[in-house]
Amino acid sequence: MAKILVIDDEFSILESLDMFLGEKGHDVYKAATGEEGLVLFYQHAPEVVILDIRLPDQNGLDVLSQMEKNEYPAKIIMITAFQDMETTIEAMKRGAYDYIHKPLDADEVEKAVNSALHILEVDHKTPLLEDMGEFPNREVIIGKSGKMRDIFKMIGLLCQNRAAVLIQGETGTGKELIARVIHRNSLFDREPFVTLDCSAVVETLLESELFGHERGAFTGASRAKRGKIELAGRGTLFLDEVGELPLNLQGKFLGFLQRREYMRVGGQQTLQSRCRIIAATNSDLFALVQQGRFKRDLFFRLKVVTINVPPLRDRLSDIQDLANYFLQKINLELGTEMLNLEQGVMDRLMAYQWTGNVRELENVLVEAVVRARGKVILLDQIEKVLSVNHSLPAMGLSSYSLPHMEKEHIQNTLTQVRWNRTRASRMLGISLPTLRSKIRKYGIEPPDLFEQ
Ligand SMILES: Nc1ncnc2c1ncn2[C@@H]1O[C@H](COP(=O)(O)OP(=O)(O)OP(=O)(O)O)[C@@H](O)[C@H]1O
Ligand SMILES: [Mg+2]
Repeated sequence: MAKILVIDDEFSILESLDMFLGEKGHDVYKAATGEEGLVLFYQHAPEVVILDIRLPDQNGLDVLSQMEKNEYPAKIIMITAFQDMETTIEAMKRGAYDYIHKPLDADEVEKAVNSALHILEVDHKTPLLEDMGEFPNREVIIGKSGKMRDIFKMIGLLCQNRAAVLIQGETGTGKELIARVIHRNSLFDREPFVTLDCSAVVETLLESELFGHERGAFTGASRAKRGKIELAGRGTLFLDEVGELPLNLQGKFLGFLQRREYMRVGGQQTLQSRCRIIAATNSDLFALVQQGRFKRDLFFRLKVVTINVPPLRDRLSDIQDLANYFLQKINLELGTEMLNLEQGVMDRLMAYQWTGNVRELENVLVEAVVRARGKVILLDQIEKVLSVNHSLPAMGLSSYSLPHMEKEHIQNTLTQVRWNRTRASRMLGISLPTLRSKIRKYGIEPPDLFEQ
């Protein structure tokens, strides 16, 4: 039962809504002008207002704005005979909860009123987000699970030396984040952190990306260029998707690691580098070694220390902290004011597979926040977002156990978005480099239609 204010100059509408909502047990207040409506609004503080856009004395949108200025959180449902885009957008912009058209349909009115009341109730009784204090302005790794604590300890140890690190884990588990945090906590945190995505470029270019080249080293090399090793200086060189490094380059890179010396492509001069190497992969590098696709010696050079980042489904206790953290991050970035999750949402999140891991969790929350109509993320909305994601086969899992299904799914997704790889990677919940490497791994070819 709630207080509902109806403002409309059409007598028949006032009467029928009064009867209809009264029968449902609500207290109904009626006004035929904006001014009368505002008086009743301040007098009775209704939970829901049903407000006509066109009123005899003023524009319903202005009445809406005045009500929205009030501290009191009423949900305002606009009604109108017009079906134009601009008023709809304007009404939503000014904070209307929903928008229904004349002639009014009883079911539609009831649904809008009930969902507004549900949101008010949830907003009211859901506890606030755990206060995290000032939002951290640099990368932090969230998580208190035993597995993450072990990783924190390891990062602490690694900060005191320059040992090579291999970070393994499914897509979206936070490998790059961990690499950055290692760098930032090291003695060389003021030196550069340079990334080379080994899956991104063709082999010949990759070599010059890594080692640099001299002017005229190859067609198109009109000026000399420093390689990533050189750019990293005494800082960190982060080799992403290291499993994708072509065999030939693996040999050259191993040579560099053994002697800490290299030459630019087409160069004569021997250069030295003391940069720290952190490599990441989401394929099983040892399996690649056994298949002869990755050099054993390089593997052992890279994995002086190995960090295995567990998939999110193996550290469910981190989900709560991550969700809190992401909600605050999203509020800052999108200017929203989400307060928390409806009861039951957390259980749902814990039961989900999270094959795209932490990245997928963040994406799901962003989408839910954007769709939200109150200050709390409702179970319903999460369900909707997850059902879209869930119809996808398990990306992370499948990379080992269901390669065929994964290939097919990637192929379908790519076709669906006309080979827009960025969009496809977003839909699949994997990073662009990961997508590229999977395209290569499975030999997926664009149909001629999409050939660029
Ligand atoms: N423990 C965590 N705490 C906070 N944010 C996290 C955590 N783990 C991952 N993230 C965030 O999730 C996103 C994905 O993480 P990241 O890019 O490090 O994953 P990745 O393992 O490198 O994935 P891929 O293999 O697809 O490249 C990033 O925005 C990162 O900041
Ligand atoms: Mg990554």
